[in-house]
Amino acid sequence: MATANGSAAPSINGKAYPIVDHKYDVVVVGAGGAGLRATLGCAQAGLKTACISKVFPTRSHTVAAQGGVAASLANMGPDTWQWHMFDTVKGSDWLGDQDAIEYLCRNAPEAVYELEHFGGPFSRTEDGRIYQRPFGGMTTEFGEGPPAQRTCAAADRTGHAMLHTLYGQSLRHSAEFFIEYFALDLMMGPDGTCHGVMALNMEDGTIHRFQAKKTVLATGGYGRAYFSCTSAHTCTGDGNAMVLRAGLPLEDMEFVQFHPTGIYGAGVLITEGSRGEGGYLTNSQGERFMERYAPHAKDLASRDVVSRSMTIEIREGRGVGKDKDHIFLHLDHLDPKILAERLPGITESAKIFAGVDLRRQPIPVIPTVHYNMGGIPTNYQGEARLARGGDPNTFVPGLMAIGEAASVSVHGANRLGSNSLIDLVVFGRAAGMRAAETTDKSAALPSLPKDVADLALSRLDRFRHAKGGTPTSALRLKMQRIMQTNCAVFRDGPILKEGVQKIGELWKESEDVRISDRSLIWNSDLIETLEYDNLIGQAAVTVTAAENRQESRGAHAREDFTKRDDQNWMKHTLTWADYATKTVRIEYRPVHTYTMTDEVKYVEPKARSY
Ligand code: FUM
Repeated sequence: MATANGSAAPSINGKAYPIVDHKYDVVVVGAGGAGLRATLGCAQAGLKTACISKVFPTRSHTVAAQGGVAASLANMGPDTWQWHMFDTVKGSDWLGDQDAIEYLCRNAPEAVYELEHFGGPFSRTEDGRIYQRPFGGMTTEFGEGPPAQRTCAAADRTGHAMLHTLYGQSLRHSAEFFIEYFALDLMMGPDGTCHGVMALNMEDGTIHRFQAKKTVLATGGYGRAYFSCTSAHTCTGDGNAMVLRAGLPLEDMEFVQFHPTGIYGAGVLITEGSRGEGGYLTNSQGERFMERYAPHAKDLASRDVVSRSMTIEIREGRGVGKDKDHIFLHLDHLDPKILAERLPGITESAKIFAGVDLRRQPIPVIPTVHYNMGGIPTNYQGEARLARGGDPNTFVPGLMAIGEAASVSVHGANRLGSNSLIDLVVFGRAAGMRAAETTDKSAALPSLPKDVADLALSRLDRFRHAKGGTPTSALRLKMQRIMQTNCAVFRDGPILKEGVQKIGELWKESEDVRISDRSLIWNSDLIETLEYDNLIGQAAVTVTAAENRQESRGAHAREDFTKRDDQNWMKHTLTWADYATKTVRIEYRPVHTYTMTDEVKYVEPKARSY
């Protein structure tokens, strides 16, 4: 059978898979905030750019980001990018790379003004400037002053506003979108060069080969490895898993952020902006317990600190509700006008998902998986580290990563709220600029190495015809429950060891997967199986890295190693997955203990308190 460009259709297990070929300068995988910002940058620079996405761009998970985007605009009071940098280093518990953090915080204001000029509908102050609210861990005077009002907001729908703004701009610059295409695997050459990506058009079942000079992974996090998370069902870390299958490492996967205020039972996010506007947490005794754990910042301490404090309250019997297993968030004392203007989205969510009128009643909340600090190791320009030789200062030719899929690393062991949206636009923009600098538009694409599509096609074919005894949903539920129990807010050696063993066994059992729909058209059984296979590899590297790291740092709180140990553990974890043996290999990369310029000093490590 002939393909769209006339070459023979590859045959896998005796079945021909006709392929539609595409050639681009850049292909971006994922259309969330980072993917769209990179797509826009590449298209603006005149590169022939495609963006492929498994959902309609404005439904990407960035749409769920509520509270805002951090940048030291100083619209509400004094602020500087150096204070923002200090807070981010401290928030990262000194695992963030300080050169990259300098780049993020220094470039944040420009990235936000750019969004404003693109038409982003920010909330406004009386005098017409962008409205900014306080967020956890954001302070003034290098942590010594009062909270900074640094988080720029479009009510509590900031991510939604950003997606619409960036999608519109990308279309304006003639970027091409392939919507409801599911990315299958990278096309890696024998010399380790990335030549693009294979994808399945879910609507009509056609298979597409996107050849590109640069492939940018912007595929988000993998919250769905857990039972309770604020992440959409689509958050399955597809790019991370493609990288693992390509024999490349992921970084710092043990650091999983729990957001303090997921709605009890539903997991739906209640923005930290609610505490920024004056909300507070109470236990069953009506006590504002955060005053004990973080006397200075209280409810606006960083997320890892608040999540741990809530968990301790529950464990010590001071949780609320029939089973004393959650906490109350109060907004009922706030002016209803403020709630209507600044928090309309969560007013609705609280009604729908918790059945409460937050103007009169507290919201039942519980720490819920929200963000992955780990991901594909990159430099601040989005280039993927660790070409096959294993040296962290080598880069994989043709491969870039941005957004939650990447570990730059600016968030280190714990991300501050609202530093995610700014990461998306600062590094999405940087990746666009780097792709423009390093891509020769006039050069012809090389001929593709033989069999470069085979990994993607044989995996697709294997799952499409899987005839085992266990449905995907049963495997997924088992994985989610293990991760929730064995890799939680607090961890210790025995529970993590058990987690490594259970996830390892499940990974092997997954060979027995059964799917019942054999078609290629809108086959959600097949897509969920491909997603589950993506998740289980990431679950394995996560729990293995967590078991391996014998200290407490940021979101990684070990009850058997309660202190941060800079001497032995101020280093990034690198994990490789071996899909044949279902095992994980670990190495390390040094933390960058230097800044990018002399305009700011290296932030010396010290004890972290709020
Ligand atoms: O709480 C929030 O609005 C979430 C923001 C973030 O994760 O940055």
